[in-house]
Amino acid sequence: MSILVTGGAGFIGSHTCLELLSAGYDTIILDNFCNSKRESINRVEEITGKKVKVYDCDIRDKAGLDKVFAENSIDAVIHFAGLKAVGESVSKPLEYYDNNIGGTVKLCEAMRDAGCKKIVFSSSATVYGAENQSPLREDMPEGKTTNPYGTTKLYIERVLKDTFASDNEWSICLLRYFNPIGAHKSGRIGEDPKGIPNNLVPYIAQVAVGKRDHLNIYGNDYNTPDGTGVRDYIHVVDLALGHIKAVEKIMGEKGCFIYNLGTGVGYSVLDVVKAFEKACGHSIKYEFAPRRAGDLDTCYSDPSKALRELGWKAERGIEEMCEDSWRWQSSNPDGYC
Ligand code: NAD
Ligand code: WQD
Repeated sequence: MSILVTGGAGFIGSHTCLELLSAGYDTIILDNFCNSKRESINRVEEITGKKVKVYDCDIRDKAGLDKVFAENSIDAVIHFAGLKAVGESVSKPLEYYDNNIGGTVKLCEAMRDAGCKKIVFSSSATVYGAENQSPLREDMPEGKTTNPYGTTKLYIERVLKDTFASDNEWSICLLRYFNPIGAHKSGRIGEDPKGIPNNLVPYIAQVAVGKRDHLNIYGNDYNTPDGTGVRDYIHVVDLALGHIKAVEKIMGEKGCFIYNLGTGVGYSVLDVVKAFEKACGHSIKYEFAPRRAGDLDTCYSDPSKALRELGWKAERGIEEMCEDSWRWQSSNPDGYC
């Protein structure tokens, strides 16, 4: 069975390709490398001992997409390609709407034209907005998004739901990720942010390895046990395995399905700092700083629907997530270079 993975060279995509190859799927990557390097794919090939076909192509390039579908018999698509920096999306909304929404529309057109109507999409907990109380469930109404990035996820979900409503031959899985962190056990692939990391764990990892002086903790007066923000961190390998289950689901059934992929457990920023200190064996310097605009106090999932319907459950805890992040960061201090 052949799976096309858009954005397959990125953080979550590379881990998912590794698990797809290990599970025996033929894997084709389409990426424009705007936020990734080919080296991630070389390493996936090195770890699995298998070859991946790679297309350097933009999801907005319809002719390029048509060629990929013409040259391969693709059974399903896992769609990771997109821009993901919340702050950047506020200053460049048009780029985000064009790339993420426009790109997804082009991808779906190419899929329809090729008769491939099975897609797994990378959505986000951000679609729940601030209105819903954690634990967040898939049957809760979507909330108001607070930035253009989040709005792209909400609109793409609508595009895909409407696509299914118009043609029930489609099989669509919307996966709402919580906070993916960690890295593959080998330490050979991991998250390689460009410039200053926006997200907590890549930032902590760079402080731990000596690339940054200290972590700024955004807010210590939230309504949480220790005053710092609480999130549902999920190991990227558990997340990758969730995609395999989602592919199995859409291969067997038509419909538009939505699943949270999280652990169901919330950890505070200070909990994560402590777990990382344990993993790296030394203390992490931090300072309290003002709250970051748009942040929530608490966000964690109810992951029970994915267990019930996909037979998927996150198995790796916060200590393993930090150990694996640290192995990746300490053995690749400058990322893929
Ligand atoms: P990433 O930036 O590492 O990977 C995205 C990949 O898509 C990159 O390789 C990039 O080069 C590629 N890409 C971007 N625009 C493209 C285009 N127009 N054409 C072709 N390729 C393009 O990000 P990630 O963390 O691996 O995230 C993957 C997906 O999961 C994204 O859609 C993201 O929004 C979503 N997501 C991520 C998180 C998270 O915290 N990492 C949480 C929820 C959802
Ligand atoms: C986690 C916690 C921060 C950095 C974002 C997106 C979301 C999703 C995942 C894609 C919060 C605190 C962070 C730092 C800190 N992405 N923090 N100092 O904000 O939960 O989610 O990534 O869909 O849409 O919004 O993740 O890792 O940025 O923050 O104190 O330097 O760490 O305030 O409490 P977030 P994060």
